[in-house]
Order: sequence, then structure tokens, then C-alpha cells
Amino acid sequence: MTTIAVYPGSFDPITNGHLDVIYRAATMFDRVVVAVAQNVEKVPLFSAPDRVALARAAVQGHPNVTVDEFDGLLVRYARRIGARVLVRGLRAVSDFEYEFQMALVNRRLDRHIETIFLMPKEEYIFLSSRTVKEVAALGGDVSGFVPSVVERALRRKLGVNGTQRRRSKRLA
Ligand code: PNS
Repeated sequence: MTTIAVYPGSFDPITNGHLDVIYRAATMFDRVVVAVAQNVEKVPLFSAPDRVALARAAVQGHPNVTVDEFDGLLVRYARRIGARVLVRGLRAVSDFEYEFQMALVNRRLDRHIETIFLMPKEEYIFLSSRTVKEVAALGGDVSGFVPSVVERALRRKLGVNGTQRRRSKRLA
């Protein structure tokens, strides 16, 4: 029987921390579906199609990883594609309460679907899409935080270039 795991999230945008979790999951399950939530609570920087495209470009070359988007209840989506495992990354204790609550709600909604937590590499523990966007918006270097395709997209989206910004500051 093929085991399918869903790794859901906003992915606004996908980071190296997300990729680390995806590749760990890919060694454990036959298929990993990165499920990009269409509707997210906060206003996203990238549209859903852009978040999907960036995630797709980032996981390219990994045969058992695919990217999809979903709307509505996560457990309903998981059931529809035949997945019984939800994967979430756990970085620090501060993540725990939110993740715990979400896992329990999902289990209450469907007791056949289990959530498992994977820890990313220590160097990504501090990383989040929110901090990446903030650093990029302020002209900081995010090359170590996101794949290059995302770095370029951030630059296009935010219209800032770290080098240019630093140079113009020096000239001011
Ligand atoms: O990357 P995020 O923002 O932490 O991801 C959160 C996400 C999208 C996985 C979560 O909000 C979600 O599952 N949304 C779908 C709606 C749902 O099923 N809600 C019930 C579980 S709390």
C-alpha cells in the first residue's frame, strides 16, 4: 500500500526550512504532497498560484514530492487524495501550542488521519516565511534562507535589491 503524506501550509513563500522538512518526509513516505492553502488568514504576499509555482520549482527533481493547492478543510483534502498522515514542522516550543491545537482539531475531525511532527535542521530553527519577507523587504540578504527561485521572486515582488539599497544608503 502506498503511504501518502500531506505537508500543508501557507508557503508564503517556501523556505529552506520547509524544504528540509519535505525532504525528511520524502525519505519516510512513498509520496509527499506539499499542499498549499489557497485561503490563508493573513493577507499573503504571493498569490496562491505564485506560492504553488515557487514550491513546485523548489522541489523539482524529487520524484516522490508533488505540489498541489487546497481549499477548505485540510482533513477533507487529505481524505480525497488518500493520505492518512499530515506532516508539520516543529521548530521551537513556541510553535507547540498552535500545532498541538491544530493536530487535535484535525484528529477530532477525522480520527483516521494522524499528524506527525518533524524537526528541521538546527540552522533553520529560527527561520519563518514572515522573517524572510521582513528581511527581504528591508533589503537584507535572504540567499541562505530560501531557494534562489524564491529569492528572485522576492526581489521582483518587493522591488528592492539588497546591494543597491546598501549602496544608496552609503551615498546618502
Ligand atoms: O503555514 P501555516 O500558515 O502555519 O499553515 C496553516 C494551515 C494552512 C495548514 C492551516 O491553517 C489549515 O490547515 N487550514 C485549512 C483549514 C482547516 O482545515 N482548519 C482546521 C484545522 S485548524
